[in-house]
Amino acid sequence: MTFRLLVTDDLSPEAVDLLDADDDIDYDVVKGLSPEQLAERIPGYHGLVVRSSARATAEVIAAGDTLEVIGRAGVGVDNIDLRAASERGVIVMNTPGANTVATAEHTMALLLAMCRNVPIAVASLRAGKWERKKYKGVELRGKTLGIIGLGRIGRRVARRCRAFGMEVICFDPYLSDDRAHEMHLERVVLDELLQRSDFITLHAALTPKTRGMINRHVIAKMKPGVRIVNAARGGLIDEAALVEALESGHVAGAALDVLTKEPPDFDNPLLHMDNVVVTPHLAASTDEAQREVGIQIVKQVIDALHGVDFRNAVNMPVVDGHVLKELRPFLSMAERLGSLQTQLAEDAITKVEVAVEGEVIDDYIKPITVALLKGLLEPVPTGSVNYVNAPHVAMTRGIVVSQTTGLHTTDYPNIISCRVEWSGGKRTIASTLFSHDEPRIVDVDGLRIDVIPEGTILVSWSRDEPGFIGKVGTLLGDRGINIATWRTGRSGKGEKALSFISVDSDVPDEIITKLAELAWVERISKVRF
Ligand code: MLT
Repeated sequence: MTFRLLVTDDLSPEAVDLLDADDDIDYDVVKGLSPEQLAERIPGYHGLVVRSSARATAEVIAAGDTLEVIGRAGVGVDNIDLRAASERGVIVMNTPGANTVATAEHTMALLLAMCRNVPIAVASLRAGKWERKKYKGVELRGKTLGIIGLGRIGRRVARRCRAFGMEVICFDPYLSDDRAHEMHLERVVLDELLQRSDFITLHAALTPKTRGMINRHVIAKMKPGVRIVNAARGGLIDEAALVEALESGHVAGAALDVLTKEPPDFDNPLLHMDNVVVTPHLAASTDEAQREVGIQIVKQVIDALHGVDFRNAVNMPVVDGHVLKELRPFLSMAERLGSLQTQLAEDAITKVEVAVEGEVIDDYIKPITVALLKGLLEPVPTGSVNYVNAPHVAMTRGIVVSQTTGLHTTDYPNIISCRVEWSGGKRTIASTLFSHDEPRIVDVDGLRIDVIPEGTILVSWSRDEPGFIGKVGTLLGDRGINIATWRTGRSGKGEKALSFISVDSDVPDEIITKLAELAWVERISKVRF
């Protein structure tokens, strides 16, 4: 199959070479598209590669009738409507790490340029002035740096600032004390960081929660004379509040690589204040970072389109290549388990509980749950369900999904169990893999069984009494339907029996009806994999 890819910005020559070398990829580079133009252009493309200027809005994503993947050549995905992408099953991936060093180094450049008045001193000299006293600076050594957001970039900034003799403290709600300790960093609450820091640098993603986080109220809590650096996203700072604080001197200086509006209105006061250093979103713009970002995103998007790897997907719980390889048979097993639950349910499923146990799968309940939901929802006629939108589709259908423990009664290694509920009933089924990759259903409501979930299977609940097997054999045999395997689980001799009867060809509905009328049978269903 040929995949069509739309690239909305320049990629490095090495990345373009990769696209040229792939016979399965047919790409177009169209730059400077507004969201409306992008929405017009996107139908028919399977992949979209953007940097920060193109915006993949909900309308663009809705217009992408064949869109499967959006690759962001960079880190921030705030120019992509993630929610819309997830709802429509479109994978969004970025390239974390590829421009980390570039951004950390630019943060240092901003910090030093601000402390030593570099840009304004250069401008003054160029204007024919020699103003040595006017542009006296401050040192970093011995000062306290507060880092907000300790991801890849924040950690590198911390390391570099310690080398300058700074005391580094950090605030990051997702960082544990242990992890901070390992990195020799002091983790503090936000208020303490604001009160203690001589310099504050932002390294947080822009989300609805972090937008405007540096506002009037927060700035008021900062130490007088604080200096602020932002090489993350302009939207993190309320710019009007920052301008006020710079004018009053409460904030002594700011060094900004990013602004709320980019390109900015050129009358934005931040562009004209002597105590502000500002660069046009350059942090990731190095030869090295741009080469790496381009190569990574092209490789990732190609792999995702081929379905071989989904690394750095931000809206998909599937893990990267080598783990995926080990996990894939379990994901496939989970899908079949979900499918079996749907096919056996006696009414619309309203609740799904999933439990996983085993050395290989213990850490992967999330992707396993998504795979199970995919199998469970796939027969829904409303459109395709995939690893990205399965949780959303479940939610819109009012299905409550939870993860739990202790659902199964069997003791196989690496077991995936699932209990579903519908109005007036519930069923628990457990599954595992034999010999690493052979799927097996091993338990249904406490009845042990050993069934390969493939092909066509008749599932019957009956009384365990003589004559049943013979009668079923005759009914199917008369219609030329061969029984491949017959597996039974029973609670005890003469009690309730559960049979999984695999057949080599389809069983017509009228035969199912005849089977259901047999005296032994309580219930019989046909399932297909
Ligand atoms: C990023 O998010 O990767 C950087 O801000 C650079 C960019 O926007 O391209």
